[in-house]
Parts: sequence; C-alpha cells; structure tokens
Amino acid sequence: MTLSVKKLHSSLGAEVSGIDLHASVDDATKAALSSLMAEHLVLVLRDQFFTPSQYLAVADAFGTLMRQHYSQHNMADYPDIGIILHRDGQKPASMWHTDHTNRERPPKATLLYGLTVPKEGGETSIASMRAAYASLTAEEQRYLDTLTTLNSIDAHRTDVLAEDREKYGKPVVHPLIRTHPEHGSKAIYFHITKALKIEGMTRDESQALMQDLLERTITPENTYTHCWRKGDLMIMDNRATMHRAHGDYDRSQDRELWRLIVQGDRPYQQ
Ligand SMILES: [Fe+2]
Repeated sequence: MTLSVKKLHSSLGAEVSGIDLHASVDDATKAALSSLMAEHLVLVLRDQFFTPSQYLAVADAFGTLMRQHYSQHNMADYPDIGIILHRDGQKPASMWHTDHTNRERPPKATLLYGLTVPKEGGETSIASMRAAYASLTAEEQRYLDTLTTLNSIDAHRTDVLAEDREKYGKPVVHPLIRTHPEHGSKAIYFHITKALKIEGMTRDESQALMQDLLERTITPENTYTHCWRKGDLMIMDNRATMHRAHGDYDRSQDRELWRLIVQGDRPYQQ
C-alpha cells in the first residue's frame, strides 16, 4: 500500500490517498498514519462512504475508541459515534478549543465524517497550536511552561446530563503547554470553557490569559479551514491543534458530521 500525501496549507493539513479504510489496516500502515498525523496534524481522506459499523471500525487505524460525554448526542445503537447536527438543537462549537480536556487521558485525535454538508459555509477551522507556541518569545514560552489548568466538564452549559456530569465532572489538572509524545514539540493546550482556572490565578485572570493567547497566536498563517464535501473524513491531532466550527450556513440545509474520539496519553511536558 502506497500512501500519497498532498499538503492543504503551509502550516498544517494533508490530504491522504491510497488507503482503504474498509479493510483492516496493518501495523506498518498504522505507524505511517500516526507519523503523518504527528507531522501534519490534520489528515483528510476524500470520498469515503461508511455505515455506522464501518465507521466505528475505521477508528482502529488511529487508536482505541473513547465514549463521548454529551451522551444525548451519541447515536442510539452505536453510542461511540457522536452526531453533530444543528437540527437537534446543538449550537456550532464556534470558539477555539480542543476536545474533552476534562478527561485524565484526553483523546489524541478526533475523527469527523461528513455525512451531509451544506452547499456553502459550515467549515471547520483547525489551528496549529505547535506553530502558535513557536511564535512566542522564549521568555513567554518559559513562563507559560510553568502553568497548569484545572479542567472539568463545561460548568456553564445547561445541556450536560446529570449522569455525564457524574461520570466526567471530576476536575483534572493538565499542563497549559504539552509535549507531543511522538513529535517531541510543544503546543498550547487548553479548552477555555472546560478550564475552571489556571492554577494560582483567579478565574477572571485565567480566562483573560487564555483569551489573549488565542487572539495573539491563532492567525491565518497557522490555520487551515476545511470546506466540507460529502464523504470527507478528517482526522485532527488534538495534542497540538485547536478547532472551531463555522455556523454561517443556511440552516434550512442539513449539516451532519459523525464524530469519533480515540484515546490519548495523559498530557505532560518535558
Ligand atoms: Fe470540538
């Protein structure tokens, strides 16, 4: 099997072809995908068509499935698949974030499959937080390296089910700057609404620091915006990216993405 790779943006993102994810993927191909993801941070495969059970099997090429914590949006018969769909009342996750940082071992990757996409709008933007960190002065990097966040399931959201809050609400500490376990580089790492605070700061100080970092470090130069086509499969490396959804599409049209997350390591810094 020969994988071919075409860059999608100067900073991150690559379109990958030459792999059939309906077949089981051998260890050499898994290793190749893993290093491509560590390097490019976003992988896109076009023209994929999966049933729910086929889609679940795809995750095996990237790791071990994790259950997602907004369980009311998980597919009834296939609860490891999260359904992203505005028609059921969900709001697009329009602020920059990385997924499920309230978990002790947050997902190393998120997979999104474009089942139905609007004619225009509804893109997903992904920023390289590796490039964002690299853009800072050495002095600021040294300061940020010392900070840790305390994270829990979104405290302000009213749509968190009691059972999910019970299972996933225990606060967990992560470094604000994490080292990528395969690439060895550092990246800015937080989910601003899941971070209750930066340890040693008030909540307001913490929010201000994180908001300022997002505003200063995420730029067009380190952001790839994915325009969805039906059948796209996108894999994002959560250890060194943040993403946001664009809600600017005609709501009379459908936009349905299926999401999977795969287990990562406990974030660390070295
Ligand atoms: Fe997300």
